[in-house]
Amino acid sequence: MEQDDFRVFAEYYDQIYQKRKNYANESKTIREIIEKFENIQSKTLLDVGCGTGEHLKHLSLEYRCTGVDINRRMIKLARRKVPEAKFKVANMIDFRLREKFDVITCLFSSIGYVRSFSNLVKTFGTFYRHLHDKGLVIVEPWVFKKDYIKAKVSLDTLEDEEVKLARMATSKITRSEWLVFMHYLIGEKGEIRYIKELHEMALLDYEDYLKAFRTAQFKDIGFLKDNLWTGCRGLIVARN
Ligand SMILES: C[S@@+](CC[C@H](N)C(=O)[O-])C[C@H]1O[C@@H](n2cnc3c(N)ncnc32)[C@H](O)[C@@H]1O
Repeated sequence: MEQDDFRVFAEYYDQIYQKRKNYANESKTIREIIEKFENIQSKTLLDVGCGTGEHLKHLSLEYRCTGVDINRRMIKLARRKVPEAKFKVANMIDFRLREKFDVITCLFSSIGYVRSFSNLVKTFGTFYRHLHDKGLVIVEPWVFKKDYIKAKVSLDTLEDEEVKLARMATSKITRSEWLVFMHYLIGEKGEIRYIKELHEMALLDYEDYLKAFRTAQFKDIGFLKDNLWTGCRGLIVARN
């Protein structure tokens, strides 16, 4: 399924995740990491796979921000939310912007959507080309292959005057991919809809990220245990 088909994912994204995540605190942690690692005074920041712009809403108070996402519905919401930032609908694997940045972030496992190791190398190459000298990349990885839990089912719910929603998700791994099956039951305006989404994620371990960063010419690569939220898988930082 094409990412652009993820209409439901985009439409209810903020309501689902704002219950689970504190984007203001996460952005504060990101700022602290940037300050700890920076070789230059960082002024510009690119958030790749920015979604609805929740991190950029906070980060744009400190940095001149740009967001890239493949889903035009996500970008539409982000533009509305953070009018001072620039946005582009593009694929993280091979996007081309006319500027470079001091910091590139790729948070909440957006990177997992590149699906394969070869795409991961291309994506980090794209990050490299958009990074100023002595710049910093911060990637929150998708769950590592070694941490896959068989037969796990997760549940998110939301309920207000207008919408009642339940989303269940379960995962399967194949030889090369991690498949996440999301099932939504949405009650709204007197109707109940059932919608399925398949999210095809990368089946990778930390060593694969490390190798991909090295192949893309990054030099200084490290793993931080900092947890942005309860399900956070740590952060990988890299410098050119
Ligand atoms: C789990 S969401 C994370 C969004 C945001 N970073 C956050 O923290 O809320 C993953 C995002 O990655 C985007 N995405 C998936 N594949 C992409 C690709 N190839 N290029 C750019 N964005 C992509 C999705 O559209 C979605 O907005």
